[in-house]
Amino acid sequence: MKTILITGGAGFIGSHVVRLFVRKYPEYRIINLDKLTYAGNLANLKDIENEPNYRFVKADICDFDTILALMKEEKIDGVIHLAAESHVDRSIKDPFTFAMTNVIGTLSLLQAAKCHWESLPEKYEGKRFYHISTDEVYGALQLTRPEGDPAGNECGGGPFGDEFFKESTPYNPHSPYSASKASSDHFVRAFHDTYGMPTIVTNCSNNYGPYQFPEKLIPLFINNIRRGKPLPVYGKGENVRDWLYVEDHARAIDLIFHKGKTADTYNIGGFNEWKNIDLIKVIIETVDRLLGNPKGHSLGLITYVTDRAGHDLRYAIDSTKLKKELGWEPQLQFREGIEKTVKWYLENQEWMDNVTSGDYQKYYENMYGNR
Ligand code: NAD
Ligand code: TYD
Repeated sequence: MKTILITGGAGFIGSHVVRLFVRKYPEYRIINLDKLTYAGNLANLKDIENEPNYRFVKADICDFDTILALMKEEKIDGVIHLAAESHVDRSIKDPFTFAMTNVIGTLSLLQAAKCHWESLPEKYEGKRFYHISTDEVYGALQLTRPEGDPAGNECGGGPFGDEFFKESTPYNPHSPYSASKASSDHFVRAFHDTYGMPTIVTNCSNNYGPYQFPEKLIPLFINNIRRGKPLPVYGKGENVRDWLYVEDHARAIDLIFHKGKTADTYNIGGFNEWKNIDLIKVIIETVDRLLGNPKGHSLGLITYVTDRAGHDLRYAIDSTKLKKELGWEPQLQFREGIEKTVKWYLENQEWMDNVTSGDYQKYYENMYGNR
């Protein structure tokens, strides 16, 4: 019997993690703590909200007293911390909110876990604080093969360059988002080194899949194609991202939470690098085909716009350690994952329309109060 606090469970990745844990471990009690910011949507968890081993708590991770009281009340054994401000473009406009939630919020959660666990007779025995981070903390890699070499991964390097982010790569964040995540990672490791808290950190590449807020590239573009709206490609569309299906990330989190080494770090990624413009063409092809549009119908929506400030050129994760030590590998091939993702957004237009109109927030206001 374990009681696990999952923060940010109403968001994109968090909702997949909550669903996985609630369904897979009926013997666990899963507490989902989320502030329900613009990115938090309880409709993401409609299918499990009445499960007996699930409880939702609306709270801010920065609210130390509330978090500590909840940890004591629920006798929390483990924390899986996903709550964060997560969008780079928002961090460029409003870095303070990112420092507050990602840095101070993480610190408040760590301090609450410390106070709670240190007050118990068994202290940190059987406890775990698992912090979910991003590959963006490592900075940016070069494009040494700008045209892309499809054989790249087979010859040991990536299709766009030989360098990868490894667990040993020094942190070098460039955006306010990645700087705030890097800072939170340091606090988590400091709590292990200073107080002996059993922490673990993972750094994952870009996720895609159902329930992602449509400010991020893939859901935004699927929705814009459906509505015949322009597709804003930053710069020349030459930046490279490494994409992983969200359920593969959730499976990795499950495995690492249970089997990962305390105080260790694991990189999570699927060796799946795509230049933005090539990925966008795959999305256009898939949406057009599934909507019954003629081939190439929506290509004209591509609109090159001013580049993002400080736009990281290339991310590429080396997840060899996770494969070797814990046997994790992504289950879904990218083409299959994109097909599944596009279908999900097209079949769940109500979800998308609610999110884009803001109705999802009004719906839960009655239940949990105004935000
Ligand atoms: P998201 O923006 O979809 O969800 C974040 C959730 O956190 C929302 O439900 C929001 O309401 C909640 N939240 C925000 N501020 C809060 C606060 N102060 N207190 C309590 N809850 C709060 O984010 P996501 O894409 O699901 O990312 C989840 C985590 O995974 C983040 O820590 C992010 O840095 C990390 N990550 C994301 C990706 C990705 O591609 N999306 C990749 C690697 C790592
Ligand atoms: P995003 O989904 O915001 O993730 P991240 O910035 O964390 O990698 O963006 C993915 C890539 O797509 C990134 O290189 C920026 C680019 N992008 C666009 O070209 N246009 C857009 O409208 C968005 C949101 C992103």
